[in-house]
This record gives sequence, structure tokens and C-alpha cells, in this order.
Amino acid sequence: MQKYFSLIVKEKNSLEGDVYQLILCNPSGDLLPSFTPGSHIEVKTPNGLYRHYSLIGDGKSPNQYELGIKKMANGRGGSVEIVDDLLIGQEIQVSVPENFFHLDHANEYLFIAGGIGITPILSMIKHLQDINHHNFHLIYCTRSLAQTPYLNYLLELIKPEQLTLHHDEGSTSNQIDFWPYLAEPKEGLIYCCGPSPMMEDVKGMTGHWDEGSVRFEDFGSSPTKLPMSSEGNTSFEVKHAKTGNNYPIAQDKTILESLREQGVSLSSSCESGTCGTCLVRLISGEPDHRDFILDSTRQQSEILICISRSKSPVLVLDW
Ligand code: FES
Repeated sequence: MQKYFSLIVKEKNSLEGDVYQLILCNPSGDLLPSFTPGSHIEVKTPNGLYRHYSLIGDGKSPNQYELGIKKMANGRGGSVEIVDDLLIGQEIQVSVPENFFHLDHANEYLFIAGGIGITPILSMIKHLQDINHHNFHLIYCTRSLAQTPYLNYLLELIKPEQLTLHHDEGSTSNQIDFWPYLAEPKEGLIYCCGPSPMMEDVKGMTGHWDEGSVRFEDFGSSPTKLPMSSEGNTSFEVKHAKTGNNYPIAQDKTILESLREQGVSLSSSCESGTCGTCLVRLISGEPDHRDFILDSTRQQSEILICISRSKSPVLVLDW
């Protein structure tokens, strides 16, 4: 099957918090490729940008795809184009679904969603309800009640005691303290999707949980894909093991960006350290791993170059 295919915009509806529901269907009326909870598709915007959005709903035999798109006025333009320029009936290119945020089996789940980061978690919760697995809790953080998309849908799916709703009213001093939920490691799995600072918070508080028990994704939830913490970044050099070529990496650029600017062709997807597409081999040097997926064993020999950096002047990589 080809990676990209055409769909028709069937509906575009405004939801809470500058979020838009986009319903896409097949012009032929045929069923669309199935998907599993946590999957996303890539959407090509009218101006040729590619953006990832999580698929909402039951993906077993879909006759349409539902996306929740946050209009990011200060973003890189993709979401604004989709929301403002796409017309009902217009054809757009999308990719087949992929899943970098699999819902694995666990006895217990903790879901943590920030804003539009709720979308992959909606599909997960729907799936758990469908299989009668009710041992989960959701922490859903938004700016205010009026800016909380999908709340009514959630309240139909889950019991009030399964939901912690938190609103920060736009102030960092009102942000939720995750520690009471994370202090005691559990046997279960945590799935966290939201803005980068929220994921950094959760990552920082779960170092004592079993490796692999905390999963992250931030497609569409961060206004930009800049490195999560550029403070203290330094420039360094990447040496390509195969050719011996040296590539300077600027202090304000990721390895991926710098290599691409110097003519190296490399794959990427999320560009936020949560999917694994940009993985390359780490040969030597002292890496500064900033991703959300590599465990300590893999960090010895692999690095995600969309986000991780180097603590040493030279990092020898291979791709
Ligand atoms: S592109 Fe997804 S982890 Fe780097």
C-alpha cells in the first residue's frame, strides 16, 4: 500500500479551547485502513506542510477518520492552514496510520493528558471500556473548563472518580503537582501526552518507575518542536563514523536540523523524542540523552538526534 492517499474533508467543527474536529472520509466510500489506540496519521496541509494528528475512536473498521486539531496561532502554521483553509469537500493527502504510542496490556493505567494531548488517550480509554478493563485513572490538564475539549465525551465513557480534571487558568503557579500520583511506583503503565514542559515534569518524577513503564507522545500538543530545554546548550561536532566527515552542530539547532542543513538526508517524524524515527547509532562521545523512549541499555549505543545532544566536544555517530 502507498504511504499517502486522498481523503475528503467531510466535516470541520469548532470545539472548546480552539480545537477543531476534522472528519475525513474516503471518496470511494470504502472502509479506511484500520488503526489501533494511540495511532496517528500525517496530514499534508494545503501549502505542503506535513503534520501529525492522533486518530480518535475505534479503529477496527473505520469508514471515516476523526482528528482533533488545536489551532496554534503561534505555531509553525500547519494547524492554522488546516483549520482556516481546508474546505468541506476538499481532497487532502494523508498517510496510512502509524502507532508509536501503543497501548500495551497492563493491570492498571495512569493516563496524563495536557490539552489536545487528550486525543490519543481518548482512543485508549474507549478501547479499555470496550474490553471491560476499568482499572485506569485519567489526569486531564487544561487552561479552564471552557477550554477543555472532549470533556462531555469523556464523561460518557468514564466514571467521575476515574477522572482528575485540573485547570491552571494560564498560570504556571497553578500547575498541577503530579508527585502525589507518581511518588509510589506501580505495576501498571503511564501514558502521557501533552506539552513538552508537562512531559518533562512527568519524566523527571518517574525515574524510579520501571524502565518502559512510562510512555510519552506529544504530536500536535506543543506549539513548536524546538528542543525541550535549550538553556545551557552548547555547540559541538558530529563525526560520521562511516565517512569520517565532521559536521558542526550549532548551539541553537538540533543535530537533525544541523545535519540536514549540511546536506545529510535523514528521516524524522515527531521531532520531539517520542517516536524513534530519527534513531542513529552512537559510536563514541558523551551523549546528552533528552528523549522519552530509550532505556539505559539502548542509550549506550543509540541516540535520537531530533532532541538529544552532546556533553563532549565530539560525538561519533553512524547512520
Ligand atoms: S523524530 Fe521522533 S524521536 Fe526523533
